[in-house]
Amino acid sequence: MQTPHRWLRNLPLILLGTVLLAEDWAAVESQVLYEHEREPAYWDAQAKSTLDAALKLRPREHQAKNIILFIGDGMGVSTVSAARILEGQMQGNAGEETVLAMDTFPYVALSKTYSVDKQVADSASTATAYHCGVKANAKTVGLSGNAVAYECNTTFGNEVYSVLRRAKAKGKSVGIVTTTRVQHASPAAAYAHSVSRSWYSDADLPSSARHQGCVDIATQLVTNVDIDVILGGGRMYMTPKGTSDPEYPTSNSRKGDRQDRRNLIDVWLKAKPTKNSHYVWHRKEFDEINVETTDRLMGLFEPKDMRFEVFRNTTRDPSIVEMTEKAIQILSKNPKGYFLFVEGGRIDHGHHDGIAKLALTEAVMFDRAIDRASQLTRESDTLTVVTADHSHVFTFGGNTPRGNPIFGLAPKKADDQMPFTSILYANGPGYVHINGTRGNITMVDYYDEEYMQQAAVPLDAETHGGEDVAIYAKGPMAHLFHGVKEQNYVAHVMAYAACLEPYTDCPPPPHSHTSTACANTPSNLIFGLIGLIWFSR
Ligand SMILES: *[C@@H]1O[C@H](CO)[C@@H](O)[C@H](O)[C@H]1NC(C)=O
Ligand SMILES: *[C@@H]1O[C@H](CO)[C@@H](O)[C@H](O)[C@H]1NC(C)=O
Ligand SMILES: *[C@@H]1O[C@H](CO)[C@@H](O)[C@H](O)[C@H]1NC(C)=O
Ligand SMILES: *[C@@H]1O[C@H](CO)[C@@H](O)[C@H](O)[C@H]1NC(C)=O
Ligand SMILES: [Zn+2]
Repeated sequence: MQTPHRWLRNLPLILLGTVLLAEDWAAVESQVLYEHEREPAYWDAQAKSTLDAALKLRPREHQAKNIILFIGDGMGVSTVSAARILEGQMQGNAGEETVLAMDTFPYVALSKTYSVDKQVADSASTATAYHCGVKANAKTVGLSGNAVAYECNTTFGNEVYSVLRRAKAKGKSVGIVTTTRVQHASPAAAYAHSVSRSWYSDADLPSSARHQGCVDIATQLVTNVDIDVILGGGRMYMTPKGTSDPEYPTSNSRKGDRQDRRNLIDVWLKAKPTKNSHYVWHRKEFDEINVETTDRLMGLFEPKDMRFEVFRNTTRDPSIVEMTEKAIQILSKNPKGYFLFVEGGRIDHGHHDGIAKLALTEAVMFDRAIDRASQLTRESDTLTVVTADHSHVFTFGGNTPRGNPIFGLAPKKADDQMPFTSILYANGPGYVHINGTRGNITMVDYYDEEYMQQAAVPLDAETHGGEDVAIYAKGPMAHLFHGVKEQNYVAHVMAYAACLEPYTDCPPPPHSHTSTACANTPSNLIFGLIGLIWFSR
């Protein structure tokens, strides 16, 4: 599947009648296709327009009406760079010069992701940090570091409260969108308090925990705070044990899981009788939702996590882009504003599987959701934050030439005389040694959807990484994201910007006569213009 793409990209060379050996293509290709980049004037003009934009940049020092928090689960900086190249190559370009939606955000900071007990953190403790503003212990959600994982009786009195919850208390509408189950750690810290991230339904709680009064995450989803929009996977934790799944009616492993025999979907639907609430589990019903008349929407599209984007059934399940769009359309009807959490939750899962294509295609879709949100919102009233909970031990390197396919080989053989892919993992299931020798991938299809890149150390599942992740921000008070910060700072900036608890001494509302609505200049446009000017010289 890579072959036609490669030939297509080399078409100009072929038309030129150039006969070349495969190894020389890349070099000549960059000479032909990046001719303009050899000229200092190109780079000078490009940097000049970037500089002009930087000089014009002014902090928006007023209150944010809306907040959107995008979390790429496991989206370390190396993942962002590789996803950027992939996005460009999917458009038929070399890739490196691509500008992602998140790349256009004017303010960036680094986030230190360690938790109270771990140098390399998990998604539960980190979610507690960025949602609730307090660092915590691994496996726990919505609880301070005083809570001990799996010890139910350390829950009570140690609850910490999310920005989502504080936004609701201020009269804003709130929503969560994720590609995992909606009870998964990252969204869970927005509404639940649990010493175990894996207590999805009551069937997952040990009886001692149940007796001590601990409550499963699915129940907390519909009882702790009224969440207006809930979109993702996780149907089976919501229905009584034995309930057939509507999409997989013959599957035993996907039946409802609840021992208390409650139907939590009904609980949520009936919680606000005066509002127009809808539940959907299918793309068709989802598309038919009238956002003008719908106040509350729950969409659960799979029994557990949603499928990876590359395996998504597009007639059955909406994408993260479509879910984000629908959420904003419903939430933005509230004149007091909204808080929306959007998680690209399966970037992390692709990496754990050691399959970079799964992770990177998820990251590309995640960025497209950011792009869609940017089109639907205004920088003048919406603070948008994009960050990750933690990184992964994912790298790409190896002296690859410009435009090298992101899933392709490094140009030279390794010391063992065998080729190696640019993308490698430090650990994970991709460790395959035969008689003490690294696998020979010469005849392997390393462009396959499920190709597992090689790893240095054998592990069932590849692990998280411990280095800092980036925070990208735009909108009111976004300039507070700069420098190297602790991860829990994210929640504090969001709360401060929107004047939520505990902040009362916070930014003033914007002037009522704001005519400077949408001053968001996409850098794609700038680059496009530079290109045009350059080529018309
Ligand atoms: C909490 O529960 C554990 C067992 O799960 C027990 O050992 C401990 O004594 C309990 N602590 C309190 C304060 O009840
Ligand atoms: C996708 O879903 C549709 C409608 O539910 C179904 O008919 C079709 O077989 C599915 N396609 C695949 C590839 O599973
Ligand atoms: C790797 O496999 C290729 C193709 O099967 C073969 O030509 C080459 O000799 C192998 N390299 C080593 C070092 O075994
Ligand atoms: C590994 O080595 C053993 C013993 O030398 C040999 O019988 C076997 O064929 C080798 N396996 C592979 C896959 O090369
Ligand atoms: Zn993970």
